[in-house]
Amino acid sequence: MEHLHLLLLSLSLLITSTTTTSSSSTDFASCLKSNNINNFTLSSDTTTTSSFNHFLNYSIQNLRFNPDSSPLKPVALVLPDTLRRLRATVLCSRRASLTIRLRSGGHSYEGLSYVSSGPDPFVVVDMMNLNRVRVSPETRTAWVEAGATLGETYFAIHDSAGRDSVTGFVINRAGSTRLVTQLVHKWQRVAHRLPDEFYLSAFVGAGLPEYRGEPPGLSVTFKGFYQGGIREAVEVLAGRFPS
Ligand SMILES: Cc1cc2nc3c(=O)[nH]c(=O)nc-3n(C[C@H](O)[C@H](O)[C@H](O)COP(=O)(O)OP(=O)(O)OC[C@H]3O[C@@H](n4cnc5c(N)ncnc54)[C@H](O)[C@@H]3O)c2cc1C
Ligand SMILES: *[C@@H]1O[C@H](CO)[C@@H](O)[C@H](O)[C@H]1NC(C)=O
Ligand SMILES: *[C@@H]1O[C@H](CO)[C@@H](O)[C@H](O)[C@H]1NC(C)=O
Repeated sequence: MEHLHLLLLSLSLLITSTTTTSSSSTDFASCLKSNNINNFTLSSDTTTTSSFNHFLNYSIQNLRFNPDSSPLKPVALVLPDTLRRLRATVLCSRRASLTIRLRSGGHSYEGLSYVSSGPDPFVVVDMMNLNRVRVSPETRTAWVEAGATLGETYFAIHDSAGRDSVTGFVINRAGSTRLVTQLVHKWQRVAHRLPDEFYLSAFVGAGLPEYRGEPPGLSVTFKGFYQGGIREAVEVLAGRFPS
């Protein structure tokens, strides 16, 4: 008897939670539509499954949270493209009692921008369409919306400041502990003294794909960015950090 009781109780809880989720997603959708927001998909709408998966997956950087394997999918994915639509999305989410996961680049290691920490139904609001960059060369400032990528930002700066070119590069060096130590030691003394237009980072790791030998050894990866042409970039490096 007690078992039956528990079973009935859990069944009714299950039914309540399922109906809450679907009715809240219907309410949510009509709220969005009445605010003229059309760029959204519901996980329950099978006619838009591929688009839902595509945009949900778009910036999931941690493969552990691949939507195929993650059981906790958002009820909806919204991509507002104006601040007015963003505000309305937040209000509609609150009205439908949906928790919000806001996503800019999706780089959160823990997946905080697109997975939920509990069973509460949630919506992912992705900022990728809020990607405007306004540059003011006079005041040397830029307003960058949260969804803009670095590439879009540099492009806008180039457009308004007329900077001719930028140079980016990645250089791997793999080998003995001694070699890697020497390179990092040198880098520590050189990198912060490079011209302001230069950015040079170093990343040391063991057993990375950069090291192709057996057993797995050390490697150091230098990532460089220079606000100028490739010839000057090489010249600066050849003078200060040829190795
Ligand atoms: C491979 C890798 C390398 C990294 N390297 C570095 C590094 O060199 N230096 C460094 O500092 N960090 C590094 N990080 C960490 C990264 O900078 C942070 O995870 C950062 O939060 C990523 O920004 P995002 O916009 O992609 O975050 P998201 O994953 O989109 O969001 C992170 C958190 O912020 C919230 N959020 C997102 N957008 C907004 C918004 N507009 N307003 C309010 N809240 C918001 C989200 O809900 C979430 O909780 C690295 C991460 C990865 C995966
Ligand atoms: C929604 O935004 C994405 C990303 O910019 C875009 O590719 C897609 O076409 C948009 N969908 C609609 C229905 O506007
Ligand atoms: C999501 O992306 C990963 C890696 O880019 C891929 O392996 C996976 O199949 C994708 N899943 C969906 C549902 O698109």
